[in-house]
Amino acid sequence: MLKIPEVNTPREFNLHGLRGISDQTMAMHLTLYQGYVTATNELIEHLWAFLKDGTVDHEGMPAYSELTRRLGFERNGMVLHEQYFGNLMQGGSDRPGRHSLFAKAAENSYGSVDLWKTDFCRVGMLRGVGWAVCSLNPATRRLSNHWISLHEHGHVAGFIPILVMDVWEHAYLLDYKPSERGVYIESFFSNIHWKTVDERLDTAVPAYAGSVPR
Ligand SMILES: [Fe+2]
Repeated sequence: MLKIPEVNTPREFNLHGLRGISDQTMAMHLTLYQGYVTATNELIEHLWAFLKDGTVDHEGMPAYSELTRRLGFERNGMVLHEQYFGNLMQGGSDRPGRHSLFAKAAENSYGSVDLWKTDFCRVGMLRGVGWAVCSLNPATRRLSNHWISLHEHGHVAGFIPILVMDVWEHAYLLDYKPSERGVYIESFFSNIHWKTVDERLDTAVPAYAGSVPR
């Protein structure tokens, strides 16, 4: 028997008063995020309608295929925005604490937090529309930075996003020129909620604090 399809609810984020990212940008961005939630729910509902007869027939396959591909775009757009908003806060800081889990993991993976940040920022400067994501490989406990095109191309299966930065132009066009993405990236860094980042590490691998390889 077919169950009720998944329904996602937009999450609330209090992101007023960030440094270098205006309230106007955040209000627009949160509205855009809600659109991804709506589109994700609609696509899931459409796809479930195909299944209600117990199969997808030959005639239905082109629409079923296209909707399934679009769901990858919309659902990743929804989730990445939640992770992005979730790792920002008013009163954030541009560096993790010296003894934080993230600092230890970055040092283990890159040799230093500075080199990790250099790599992450350069990934964020790649030409095109997408995201810079620092992910954890739970098998090795190492961090690595990745470029995600659009919302769905470039994820490594099984890797867990730890820090997520939106570099679509809508993330900064109200505050900066298109050529000033680097300034926006520095603004992003000045607002990072490192406690959330550490919690993601801890959740990704239970007892992470004791398992960072040396
Ligand atoms: Fe965005």
